[in-house]
Amino acid sequence: MPRLEVNVDHIATLRQARLIDEPDPVTAAALAELAGADGIIVHLREDRRHIQDRDLRLLRQTIKTRLNLEMAATQEMLEIAIDVKPNLVTLVPEKRQELTTEGGLEVAKNQDFLKDYVRQLKEGGLRVSLFVDPVTPQIEAAKEVGAEWVELHTGTYADAPSRAEATRLFQELLNAARHARSLGLKVKCGHGLNYRNIKPFRGREEFAEYSIGHAIMARAILVGIERAVREMIELIREK
Ligand code: PXP
Repeated sequence: MPRLEVNVDHIATLRQARLIDEPDPVTAAALAELAGADGIIVHLREDRRHIQDRDLRLLRQTIKTRLNLEMAATQEMLEIAIDVKPNLVTLVPEKRQELTTEGGLEVAKNQDFLKDYVRQLKEGGLRVSLFVDPVTPQIEAAKEVGAEWVELHTGTYADAPSRAEATRLFQELLNAARHARSLGLKVKCGHGLNYRNIKPFRGREEFAEYSIGHAIMARAILVGIERAVREMIELIREK
């Protein structure tokens, strides 16, 4: 059965807009879990624009499912991850000016660096996922550097300008997932997925997990977190 991990960064974005202590992503995570989320994701950015170190540490203590920490491959984050011990570390590219993550990690061109970085994470007792574009060189490089998971970037699919292009990009994701699985990688996907564009993914065993943030939180503002999470779970699990 496909699993849903819910990203609560945007609860922290709202809090940081006022630099006060609410809404709290820790409370949001608890509600998402009560609604059936299989895991909670946070992206601790170098610039701390939303999630703070305090959130990560409290989530580690309170989460009942699994904590997936998205982070850039820096020395600071390596030390934090090994100390906090999330259930999964997802390495993502990070640029200061971006509104959100803008594409997959360039694994193929940074194999030596990433191999060493992934090795250090694994020696620290951590499991590693790499966020990559759904293309063969990046997937093969992810395997090569020792990742256990790949998260396929669905942002280009989500932004497709036409239905025909979306169909083509969905097929590309499907082929990429099959290739990754054939190499022994576990496959999740995420970025830009919402209650409409998730529909072709229904019943597709190629994708073990979905990582969704913005669409769920945007709906949660209007209908509540529990309903927003439940409705997404129904969509990914419907046959
Ligand atoms: N996966 C990764 C690696 C991301 O960086 C993000 C955005 O934080 C997501 C998934 C979730 O994307 P969205 O918020 O568009 O659902």
